[in-house]
Amino acid sequence: MSPARGHLVAFEGGEACGKSTQARLLAERLDAVLTREPGGTPTGEQIRTILLDHDTGDLDPRTETLLVAAARAEHVATVIRPALEAGRWVVTDRFSGSSLAYQGAGRGLPLDEVAEISRWATAGLEPDLVVLLDVAPEVSASRQGGGRDRLEEAGDEFHLAVAEGFRKQAAEHADHWVTFDGARPIEDLAAEIAAEVSRRFPG
Ligand code: TMP
Repeated sequence: MSPARGHLVAFEGGEACGKSTQARLLAERLDAVLTREPGGTPTGEQIRTILLDHDTGDLDPRTETLLVAAARAEHVATVIRPALEAGRWVVTDRFSGSSLAYQGAGRGLPLDEVAEISRWATAGLEPDLVVLLDVAPEVSASRQGGGRDRLEEAGDEFHLAVAEGFRKQAAEHADHWVTFDGARPIEDLAAEIAAEVSRRFPG
């Protein structure tokens, strides 16, 4: 008999919101496969380098959308779906919500088109739960070190639009999105997130 399908939890949020730390802590608690986007596969990691490297310079927003979608397609097909089918929990640091926030709200592409490209890339796979870590721009700025990547340097207006893009998704999909204050102490936040996961997926 094949095992029950595992669950996919995605962490989302703007720059330096603390999601990588929280994704790792939740994955440890759940003994989950921990992965990230763009990345998680050799091809995805190469796409990540293109996306974040200053040498890439300006990219047309459609190119940017297709790059992250290509990384997502490879990630879902070769890492996420096989793990879920084997009954594993999967925790991913970013997923489709980031494309809607960054390429949709941030770059200004139509949200329905970005959503459709992402749906095609994932062959319809949706997270069972999305954890959004919201932080004020001042907190995000104070946490970012010196060497900012291509997207971190995209400007305040862009990042405010991204943050709003995440909040809108959380409000529209309250059934499977939950928002936490990313400025809370790390251990308190980790305990709250773990409690929410246990509440939603008992046993
Ligand atoms: P980070 O997750 O380490 O912060 O870096 C990933 C960067 O890639 C971040 O600036 C957001 C960006 N990104 C997109 O623009 N669209 C996407 O769909 C994904 C997954 C990430």
